[in-house]
Amino acid sequence: MSANAPSTTAGSSGYAEFHRRSIEDRDAFWTEQAQMVEWQQPFTTVCNYSNPPFARWFEGGLINLCHNAVDRHLKDRADQNALIFVSTETNEEKTYTFAQLHTEVQRMAAVLQSMGVVKGDRVLIYMPMIPEAAFAMLACVRIGAIHSVVFGGFASVSLASRIEDASPKVVVSADAGSRGGKVVPYKPLLDEALRLSSHKPERVLMVDRGLAPMPLTEGRDADYATEAARQNGVVVPCVWVESTHPSYTLYTSGTTGKPKGVQRDTGGYTVALAASMKHIFQGEAGQTYFSTSDIGWVVGHSYIVYGPLIAGMATIMYEGLPIRPDAGIWWELVERYNVSVMFSAPTAVRVLKKYDSSFITGRNLGSLKALYLAGEPLDEPTAQWISGVLGRPIIDNYWQTETGWPILTVCNGVEAAPSKFGSPGKAVYGYNVKLLDDATGAELTEPNQKGVLAIEGPLPPGCMQTVWQDDARFVNTYWKSVPGRMVYSTFDWGIRDEEGYYFILGRTDDVINVAGHRLGTREIEESISSHPNVAEVAVVGVADQLKGQVAMAFAVPRDASLLTSEADRLKMEGEIMKRVDEQLGAVARPARVRFVSVLPKTRSGKLLRRAIQAVCEGRDPGDLTTMDDPAALRQIQDLLAG
Ligand code: PRX
Repeated sequence: MSANAPSTTAGSSGYAEFHRRSIEDRDAFWTEQAQMVEWQQPFTTVCNYSNPPFARWFEGGLINLCHNAVDRHLKDRADQNALIFVSTETNEEKTYTFAQLHTEVQRMAAVLQSMGVVKGDRVLIYMPMIPEAAFAMLACVRIGAIHSVVFGGFASVSLASRIEDASPKVVVSADAGSRGGKVVPYKPLLDEALRLSSHKPERVLMVDRGLAPMPLTEGRDADYATEAARQNGVVVPCVWVESTHPSYTLYTSGTTGKPKGVQRDTGGYTVALAASMKHIFQGEAGQTYFSTSDIGWVVGHSYIVYGPLIAGMATIMYEGLPIRPDAGIWWELVERYNVSVMFSAPTAVRVLKKYDSSFITGRNLGSLKALYLAGEPLDEPTAQWISGVLGRPIIDNYWQTETGWPILTVCNGVEAAPSKFGSPGKAVYGYNVKLLDDATGAELTEPNQKGVLAIEGPLPPGCMQTVWQDDARFVNTYWKSVPGRMVYSTFDWGIRDEEGYYFILGRTDDVINVAGHRLGTREIEESISSHPNVAEVAVVGVADQLKGQVAMAFAVPRDASLLTSEADRLKMEGEIMKRVDEQLGAVARPARVRFVSVLPKTRSGKLLRRAIQAVCEGRDPGDLTTMDDPAALRQIQDLLAG
């Protein structure tokens, strides 16, 4: 069914031809796209794919991401808004023009340099949604340092494993975040993470918002305001880096407990974002972009900070909930700042759907061209509702931390095309998308066949270069060799219809998606297992009306005699949840922890997570002939029924 009618009649082969060229005439296509950004020195090779699956984009070129996001706009739009910060948590609103942003970023860069940060050093950013977080990201790429932003909702154990892996010279943080009016102190979590990590950064730079105590460790910690005052007016030129120089790493979850540092280059990423702003988001310089994500996630990197700024747009950075002070806050911002492009997640729309639609219809949203949604499946009722209320195209787009920008969507900036409910759209230019048979790895070429969604190498510009410090893990985790080529797995099931529209049918691995947040069930299991009375645990993602999925845990106690009453079980469930909150963060907290005497496993001892998940969702668990003890699954069924 068509959701959004095309605004112009699609030409016979406009987008199809655009996509074909991007694959078959790859170098010419990307050479054209690369003209959208400024190079200090032109590249000599468009794509060096001599060592697959490693792709080196725009080799020989020298570039700077901060120059393209900030400095290059000073000529035409120094006094136009670049960053609009709105916090409904602290009731602050601040705007920075490109000129002011330029000053702030240099100040932050000067402070980092004064702490010894040079090209190639890592800087870990653990911050709430405040302007200094964006300054820190831009300051890093300005001087060639590699940032690694850790989502502020993560707690000490998650943070420690990232500090350990990224081995930053400096950590930039703040006294506290705030959520729903509740202050969340960061410093104790950071101090605990630094204690747990074997890597110790030389310096810790703290932004004091005056929300929570922020005790400074002598010799290591510094107050940003004090340091910044010392660097006032210092000019920090952009350090031109090779196109393939890493701009950042961003950790994401997979099947194993250890998060992977997705490493991104500089030149390919700058070009990919600039191109996506035009062809996908139809953003124009001087307009305003509003992404409701968080800088701790990939959407925040690409479409709060870098993409809009590269395009010369103002970007809104919003700290707060979508329903506070009321469910009209986002639309109030759209109206006030004449937002033309908005980006959010289906979960947020499902939250708003519970409130009166007049919060949206009561606003003048004339500036808004479209609402882009990503991060999790967009269900039809949600799409229908928001489409009806907003009266604007709702554009689903599918991608991953690994790719950095959309893999599937409708590229209305190239040629207006209808959307189909339930489908993010077609393969985006640059992506040679395939569906592979799970068992044989053979390509499925007929329509309506279910397979693993894959991308034939090389991945287009902007996608991950490798796993930070672990090339072998990059190759072994994501790539399969099929004769003559290498193929990247997304770990998502997909299906393609006769018209080339794809539908996403869930993950093939142990990753779950809670309210658009990507979480590894293994990480949650590891945290739960640290409870002294847990012998074994299985965590599965279960369908949820509001959050898409929630985590459900089934634990086997070491000593069942401690759990004889319902009160005992609730107490231990509470202890486990607190532990997950403290170690990983509340985002990872399971909705329920239930206790069983045995977990369903195969005879070879493999946990039957899919069967548990099916039972939790009231579905048929399928073929259980390999199951060791059928009573184990029945126990779970009985618990859920009881
Ligand atoms: O399972 C897919 C789901 O989210 C995963 C990637 O999550 P993350 O790395 O956090 O990146 C999010 C970038 C938007 C995917 O493997 N996913 C993402 N977008 C969609 C989606 N599932 C269905 N529809 C989408 N539009």
